[in-house]
Amino acid sequence: MTVNKVGVVGCGLMGSGIAQVCAEAGYPVVVREVSDDLLKKGLGRIESFLKKGALKGKVTAERMREVLGRLQGTTSLADLAGCDIVIEAVVESIATKRETYELLDRICGKDAIFASNTSSLSITEMAATTTRPDRFVGLHFFNPVPLMKLVEVVRGPLTSDGAFEKAFAFAKSLGKIPIRAKDKTGFIVNRLLVPYLLDAVRALEEGVGSVPDIDEGMRLGCGYPMGPFTLLDFVGLDTTFYIANIMFDEFREKRFAPPPLLKRMVQAGMHGKKSGKGFYDYAKEPPAPTPGLV
Ligand code: 3HC
Repeated sequence: MTVNKVGVVGCGLMGSGIAQVCAEAGYPVVVREVSDDLLKKGLGRIESFLKKGALKGKVTAERMREVLGRLQGTTSLADLAGCDIVIEAVVESIATKRETYELLDRICGKDAIFASNTSSLSITEMAATTTRPDRFVGLHFFNPVPLMKLVEVVRGPLTSDGAFEKAFAFAKSLGKIPIRAKDKTGFIVNRLLVPYLLDAVRALEEGVGSVPDIDEGMRLGCGYPMGPFTLLDFVGLDTTFYIANIMFDEFREKRFAPPPLLKRMVQAGMHGKKSGKGFYDYAKEPPAPTPGLV
């Protein structure tokens, strides 16, 4: 497939990262947000990442201008009409995603491939809302998108071999390392990661160790770049809680059930780094373990 133009729907944390890596790979990108404010924020996040990269000597001012020049922001889905592949990274709500796909299906050319960045919803359910279920895949990127090499390329029973291989080749063309996964809730990474993160919360509830000790244990004992609580704060407690609930609904297995402490923290608005507080308090420098959790 020749990709002349990429569409990205959603310019939040994941959408902006995806738009950035596509532009860095040389593709002209149209990225759509629902409002000017959110669009400005998303494009600002890309610019700030590139500026930090320039300070680190990873990117030149010219390259930065080039990458930003390939990005066209819009609030209108109709501007994605000429895109050969559309990657959707809107909020993890099946209703919102279905609504988005119904509109995109009418707007985009019949050969365009649709790819969802969903982490936990069914590719098949979304594909079935379109007239192109054979040209529908999952492209699951990881946070932070510009730094994480992996992309899960997901196929459902309706995905054609041709569309799957095109999406796989496209992920490679972004400089990423794609892996193949089936449309089973959580795919490969979250299937294994989510129970691990939930177990860390259970270990804390049971008093096995403190937040920093469990984090150090997994960081130094297993060579993970972040301990489970730092990672939970990074991914978002609300996001993890949401994914765990979807996985529990699907499999009805205890290992996917969110522990009460995680639920209480989400109810309390302690969503991790983005809210300023989770297992660590980010008002402190360096972040300090939040007291009184157990
Ligand atoms: N521009 C260019 N390069 C940059 C950059 C920037 N703005 N910021 C950082 N970099 C480069 C650095 O220079 C460095 O490059 P080097 O290895 O050549 O020196 C590299 O990126 C790493 O950056 P840092 O040294 O600043 O940071 P760390 O080494 O602390 O790594 C991290 C940061 C990559 C986030 C690492 O901590 C990590 O891998 N954490 C785990 C993240 C993870 O697990 N994510 C997945 C979450 S699950 C998910 O997303 C799925 C969803 O469905 C829930």
